[in-house]
Amino acid sequence: MKLRNLLVVGLLVVSAPSAFSHKGDASAGEAKSVVCAACHGQDGNSTIPVNPSLAGQNYTYLKRTLLDYRSGVRKNAIMNGQASGLSDEDIANLSKYYSLQSGTLVNLKVR
Ligand code: HEC
Repeated sequence: MKLRNLLVVGLLVVSAPSAFSHKGDASAGEAKSVVCAACHGQDGNSTIPVNPSLAGQNYTYLKRTLLDYRSGVRKNAIMNGQASGLSDEDIANLSKYYSLQSGTLVNLKVR
């Protein structure tokens, strides 16, 4: 490979947004989700109306949302605290795990 091509590849790797470069590992996410389950229910199916269900939610939406809670772009006292301790990898893993769970979320009807 020519040096110039190597540099281009290197730049692409370095400039990729970090949290979005993680693909997410569902089983690592499941292990990390124990604390979340207290509010969001087992497998992300919440039984408490103020806590949203996460099971079956879109993967990219979950990642975006957790990044926004962590940075403070989305404000919620509880979730800003919860997200503050999560690494980019944790966020990808949790998002993968919840997106793969089945639940009532996808069947919600707007009344
Ligand atoms: C003490 C209760 C509690 C815990 C623990 C908790 N959450 Fe939450 N979570 C909430 C509440 C309440 C909201 C709604 C906040 C809002 O309106 O922005 C929420 C919102 C969310 C949302 C946004 C859902 C949506 O539909 O937009 C995500 C994603 C989420 N939580 C993920 C997690 C993850 C992952 C964990 C574990 C690391 C976690 N939560 C731990 C209470 C909790």
